[in-house]
Amino acid sequence: MKKLLIATNNKGKVKELQELLKDTGIELITPADINLNLDVEEDGKTYTENATKKAIAFARASGFISLADDSGLEVNALEGAPGLHSARYHPKAGANDADRRAYMLENLKDKPRPWTAHFHATIAISVSEEEIYVVDGNCYGEIIPEERGNSGFGYDPIFFFPELKKTMAEMDMEEKNRLSHRAIGVMNALPILKQIFGL
Ligand code: IMP
Repeated sequence: MKKLLIATNNKGKVKELQELLKDTGIELITPADINLNLDVEEDGKTYTENATKKAIAFARASGFISLADDSGLEVNALEGAPGLHSARYHPKAGANDADRRAYMLENLKDKPRPWTAHFHATIAISVSEEEIYVVDGNCYGEIIPEERGNSGFGYDPIFFFPELKKTMAEMDMEEKNRLSHRAIGVMNALPILKQIFGL
């Protein structure tokens, strides 16, 4: 059976993608499974450039068809920041997810609410350097000034769904995987994966 490498070192993303792809009949592998230590510099100007670069680099290093995600949070009151730079949104090197959430709230505190925002994910699948597929997913909500919930990762504790009255970190994996930008991106990728893997 052909295998699909989940081309990311982000543990939160690995867990979600494993769950999202688990009933597809595709055999999934992670970089850890094949002792692959690869850090790809995300220096592209678009999500597509970064996702494509990561998918190709992991495919080249492993020989496996690879699926990469480049994602970010776009906050309207911050003119779309941090967007592409979400993973590095902090003035200090060595900052963690909690530091980045606090920094975002500090930057928002004088702006009028609601702080509407959306998560974006671009998913790239590299079969070879010439055969690459790209799809997107978005998920809409707002940033709230205090953290709620312990699930997920990144900005989940401050990303709130007004209709559901919960943050992304108050959802279990199953619920997040029905609503998230990555879930929608994977749903859009499924017909392509089925074709590639002959399912
Ligand atoms: P990158 O795709 O490796 O550039 O990282 C995307 C960054 O966006 C992550 O490090 C998080 O900070 C943020 N992000 C992406 N998806 C999510 C999510 O599902 N929940 C919370 N934060 C996310």
